[in-house]
Amino acid sequence: MSDSQQQPIDYSQSIPNNVDLAGDRSLQRALERWQPAFLNWWHDAGPEDTHQLRVYLRTAISVDRDGWANFGYVRMPEYRWGIFLTPRDPGRTIAFGDHQGQPAWQEVPGEYRSALRRIIVTQGDTEPASVEQQRLLGKTCPSLYDLRNLFQVNVEEGRHLWAMVYLLHRFFGRDGREEAEALLQRRSGDPDNPRILTAFNEKTGHWLAFFMFAFFTDRDGKFQLAALAESAFDPLARTTRFMLTEEAHHLFVGEAGIARTIQRTCEVMKDRGIEDLAEARQHGVIDLVTLQKFVNFHYSVTLDLYGSELSSNAANYFTGGLKGRVGESRLSGDHSLVNESYPVQEVDNGGIVTRQAPALTTLNARLRDDYIAEIQGGLDRWNRIPERLGIPFRFRLPHVGFHRKIGSFAGHWITPEGGVVTREQWEARAADWLPTGADHAFVTSLMGEVVTPGQFANWIAPPVRGINNLPVDFAYVRFD
Ligand SMILES: [Fe+2]
Ligand SMILES: [Fe+2]
Repeated sequence: MSDSQQQPIDYSQSIPNNVDLAGDRSLQRALERWQPAFLNWWHDAGPEDTHQLRVYLRTAISVDRDGWANFGYVRMPEYRWGIFLTPRDPGRTIAFGDHQGQPAWQEVPGEYRSALRRIIVTQGDTEPASVEQQRLLGKTCPSLYDLRNLFQVNVEEGRHLWAMVYLLHRFFGRDGREEAEALLQRRSGDPDNPRILTAFNEKTGHWLAFFMFAFFTDRDGKFQLAALAESAFDPLARTTRFMLTEEAHHLFVGEAGIARTIQRTCEVMKDRGIEDLAEARQHGVIDLVTLQKFVNFHYSVTLDLYGSELSSNAANYFTGGLKGRVGESRLSGDHSLVNESYPVQEVDNGGIVTRQAPALTTLNARLRDDYIAEIQGGLDRWNRIPERLGIPFRFRLPHVGFHRKIGSFAGHWITPEGGVVTREQWEARAADWLPTGADHAFVTSLMGEVVTPGQFANWIAPPVRGINNLPVDFAYVRFD
């Protein structure tokens, strides 16, 4: 099969692609058999009751950094899901680990076959999982603008599944085809056949959870993809690079959605002279204290996705060249990490201590810390909103050990401030730190369904600008 270097996306094919699928008939036939199964999955588990809607969506038309997207009305089942890799750099070498300096792999080396398959399946599983989690949200959209953004995220997560399924079919033979089938059979939250990672079996029951998910949890996806974009296995690196360009919009939807929620709450407080934070609720907006609880929840469950701080798997993935650090090729140092150390925190003697551990075994912690730095930047931007409106409230990230189920803090009871307490003490305060059933019920009660162009639910401010330079009151979704 030839490379996709400089090759335009071929939309004359039933599966749009820039990997010369037509040149590999058996692969093409295998993927054409998987395609109807994917569409059945979309009908069964994708956005409910939306097949007739016309949605103003972007579709990838090239993998160039500028102008890769085409915008237009699409019925979602007719979205052109396809296979798009960034162009191959024929001189690319492996940037880290034992194989550093050797040419990047165009095929899967036997010794890494099962590890790579596991990495690809785990990543691939999250893509349809999030679509399933968001299946019912369309019914309570705060505006047509937001509804369109939800659907854009959904179709692109579907495309990310295609990206991983292509790798499975192309490089993993029969095992790969079976894994591709299984990716359509697991269901988020299904007790018998759940999605692989816990966070992807949680419910996304309302739009605040969706925005939080897109800001916190999709960003874990971004960091995992950024680590895989460094992979010695070149087709994986190239497909994740293009996924990252799509992911940027998902992160924007999350960050801006929460910013608009904060904006609206702060405006109502200011206009009506409300000083008591909790009182904002009586005016049909989500009070800042409740928003902080959602931040605590989504942040802590997402930190668990990075796995244990100390991990021999992570070390093996790095040494083998399967998964690098973010921006590996641009980092200084010798890219072997053998003689380096990295600080990790853990509970010791009733307190939290920081110690140095071998850098190779702490790669999960490092990736997570890179993530935390970016999350903190988002919180800083959110905090400018109450600051501007003269409201003395600032969002804070809880301590990294707060509410953790995986890693060195699992089994410990850590307060948002980083205090080590007993289980009884922690549980007595849990309702102040994490959203309660009543908080969820309150947020759900605000949702409604706003489908008049230019109108927005009371709890959220309009965006500053529309999609693709269109006005905010454009009919982003049409029901006719
Ligand atoms: Fe994705
Ligand atoms: Fe995403």
